[in-house]
Amino acid sequence: LRDRGLADISRSENLTRINEIRVQLLGKKGPITEALRGLRELSAEERPQVGSFANQIRDELATAIEERRNELEAASRAAQLNAEAIDVTLPGTPVAQGQPHVIQRIIDQLEDMFIGMGYQVVDGPEVEDDHHNFEMMNLPKDHPARDMQDTFYLTPELLMRTHTSPNQARAMENHDFNKGPLKMVSPGRVYRRDTDDATHSHQFHQVEGLVVDKHVTMGDLKGTLELVAANLFGDEFDVRLRPSYFPFTEPSVEADITCFNCMGKGCAVCKYTGWIEVLGAGMVHPNVLQMAGVDPSIYGGFAFGLGPDRFAMLKYGVTDIRNFYLNDTRFLTQFYQRG
Ligand code: PHE
Repeated sequence: LRDRGLADISRSENLTRINEIRVQLLGKKGPITEALRGLRELSAEERPQVGSFANQIRDELATAIEERRNELEAASRAAQLNAEAIDVTLPGTPVAQGQPHVIQRIIDQLEDMFIGMGYQVVDGPEVEDDHHNFEMMNLPKDHPARDMQDTFYLTPELLMRTHTSPNQARAMENHDFNKGPLKMVSPGRVYRRDTDDATHSHQFHQVEGLVVDKHVTMGDLKGTLELVAANLFGDEFDVRLRPSYFPFTEPSVEADITCFNCMGKGCAVCKYTGWIEVLGAGMVHPNVLQMAGVDPSIYGGFAFGLGPDRFAMLKYGVTDIRNFYLNDTRFLTQFYQRG
């Protein structure tokens, strides 16, 4: 029994097997337990002899089992460590990393520039009330110029803002002019009921700008817009102002910048004018100041609203505005910055 047991133990090649052997040999129904149980039937002389012999065999087998189990455990642990070994010198799996959207980058760049000139950046609701979006912008309910901005109405009084200009009104309402001039920019999404095509999107972006102080001139406006053009495109770009109409500015202008394609020489892109229209602007209408609680006999200001989508199209030669909103990474990653 002993020899066969020891042979079995040394031949066992896994922990399940060694456990089986242990139960077989040393378990309650095993031969040793049986033998020890049988001691009762032996004579007083035989009992200690047989008993100690059985115990010796049991101890010997138990020790062998224990040793073999330790060996097997060590081997299985070694195998596991080996299988799970990590080669820290292997090159890593690259993780695809996103970057700010190209339009967000233009907005960030403009924000940085304006913050550098002492402007504050303010936010406003995309679901706007008719009051701020139109009325306070000098567009009463029956004003024909409301047609200039086809509107998504949510209720008769609530709408998706059609421009960022309502933030002018909000900024003026909140500003304490005793503490100094108001200089703010306000970027954000705006909505118009347009049919989407290459140059129209029912949702796009604007960056509103507003300065209200005591002696603000149209020259200040033009100088500021020249800085915008230089900052986004480079020094060789010029700005020109053309008379236009907005209900909330008087006089109103549209600003053109040098055509990026022909640099002013005239080409098909700029319809041979040498200029590309990029934004609307003007001197804040006295009614707008008044409605926001600012005295137009003391204060005046300029305002502009520019479209980062359009700027991005010009800057990168994108011909279809819808690309900005399709979230096709093949398009978006073109603008990623390295490093
Ligand atoms: N809010 C005008 C628009 O969408 C742009 C603008 C802003 C014009 C400020 C003048 C002054 O279209």
